[in-house]
Amino acid sequence: MSENRFDVVIIGSGPGGYVAAIRAAQLGLKVGCVEKRKTLGGTCLNIGCIPSKALLHASEKYEEAKNHFATFGIQVKGLSVDLKQMLAEKDKTVAELTGGVDFLFKKNRITRFSGTGKILDNETVEVTSDDGKAEKVLTKNIIIATGSDVAPLKGVDIDGKTVVTSTEALSLPKVPKHLVIIGGGYIGLEMGSVWRRLGSKVTVVEFMDRITPGMDQDVTKNFTRILKKQGMDIKTSTKVVGVKKTKTGADVKVEPAQGGKSEIISCDVVLLSIGRIPLTIGLGLENVGVALDDRGRVKVNGRFETNVKGIYAIGDVIEGPMLAHKAEDEGMAAAEFIAGHTGYVNPDVIPAVIYTMPEVASVGKTEEQLKEAGINYNVGKFPFSANSRAKTNRATDGFVKILADAKSDRVLGVHIIGVDAGNMIAEAVLAMEFGASAEDIALTCHAHPTHTEAVKEAAMAVDNRAIHM
Ligand code: FAD
Ligand code: NAI
Repeated sequence: MSENRFDVVIIGSGPGGYVAAIRAAQLGLKVGCVEKRKTLGGTCLNIGCIPSKALLHASEKYEEAKNHFATFGIQVKGLSVDLKQMLAEKDKTVAELTGGVDFLFKKNRITRFSGTGKILDNETVEVTSDDGKAEKVLTKNIIIATGSDVAPLKGVDIDGKTVVTSTEALSLPKVPKHLVIIGGGYIGLEMGSVWRRLGSKVTVVEFMDRITPGMDQDVTKNFTRILKKQGMDIKTSTKVVGVKKTKTGADVKVEPAQGGKSEIISCDVVLLSIGRIPLTIGLGLENVGVALDDRGRVKVNGRFETNVKGIYAIGDVIEGPMLAHKAEDEGMAAAEFIAGHTGYVNPDVIPAVIYTMPEVASVGKTEEQLKEAGINYNVGKFPFSANSRAKTNRATDGFVKILADAKSDRVLGVHIIGVDAGNMIAEAVLAMEFGASAEDIALTCHAHPTHTEAVKEAAMAVDNRAIHM
């Protein structure tokens, strides 16, 4: 095999692409990975999950010190935010983790191609580097793992300074006095929490009648109440019809979603976060006839293979939630299929977490989805106000809600709002993956005093036998 001929070439090194590369290499394949960004790790490590969590962590520490330490008898004098240091520490974390992927590539003998990848035919990927030099890479298989990009909105021109996307919102040089966020989803609520904690007035403009519209409505109601109590201004059923830049910032023109009297909200920074779109432009898909669905996503079968033999796709660029762990699992599965093994991803059991305070985590069906599907179910709900650890820590917001099939008791969905919900959901995911019943969770011993006892109690509540309620 010539040096430039591979078993698999992956375009994109995000959590989908880099994990696929490592797994394929572990399985003995010769692997190349094309990445146009200077560092590996994709959206997630560079401008997504990791930097946003770094800022959520730092800003949460500040808010704790400011508002909660005194309750526990800890006095802090002269507390202030050193934004430059906060941003530098975030950048350091990003550099360490992207460097970690570099290390794993070397360890697994994965060849990295720096530049933009384009598919010429199902055996050739052309890589064009920043200086315009093009090189042809031959391969038996291709995995498209190009991820997603910010969804634009008519009338809102992004300039990266006053009107920004999540990328710039991760590095604002100073705390905005007033930040208007278009879209009350994952990014809006996480980044809104960061800047509100650091001192911004935050207004969230959401088109639908509630924030995080895909979530269980019980959770959404509680979440909205908590965020408002924290000081976030949330305008639902409202649309942005235009943003005009001013000398000091921007005027955001909003009106009721169904039309009506408009209103101007003046602010200094606007964050556009109304979703993300799959990234397929310039990939050369038309050269080989790879089919897209009606939402511009690459269509794949159960083996993550497109309609063109030997071309696979994973992650944000295909159907399903745009989440890093989903991309990773699909990357592993695609590598397994290419190597002649069987890959496995269960699309019905993918957890989702919003890393606000408190966190919101869910897996499986919402109550609304079960009603719509005509499935009979029982509900078990347990509030953190009755959980001893939450009470001890003086953080009692939220609850655990378990939805179980009325006949079989099989767990169909779990929704948690509360401190540490993102870690707690793992138990529910495992239970659902193993087809557990609510009773299985109820009969499992949970350590005391932990937040996880609320999961056990919610499972017991499905059968109306919660102890501490
Ligand atoms: P990506 O990570 O987008 O990687 C694709 C890579 O392909 C990029 O590096 C891109 O440069 C490269 N590329 C694209 N086209 C080409 C080309 N033609 N040639 C060469 N390279 C190319 N998800 C979570 O699960 N948890 C979180 O906490 C979370 N937080 C997020 C916070 C923010 C602000 C954002 C924006 C997203 C967040 N996400 C989170 C979503 C997560 O980042 C994505 O779901 C995940 O990165 C998708 O992985 P991927 O491998 O499909 O694509
Ligand atoms: P999102 O889909 O989470 O939320 C977008 C919100 O904008 C929705 O509530 C939607 O109803 C609203 N909206 C749509 N059009 C609108 C309009 N014209 N005006 C006002 N509101 C409008 O998208 P977001 O926040 O941009 O994030 C993109 C994706 O990135 C997420 O869907 C998620 O997959 C991923 N992500 C995941 C995170 C995590 O796992 N913790 C964190 C951040 C992002």
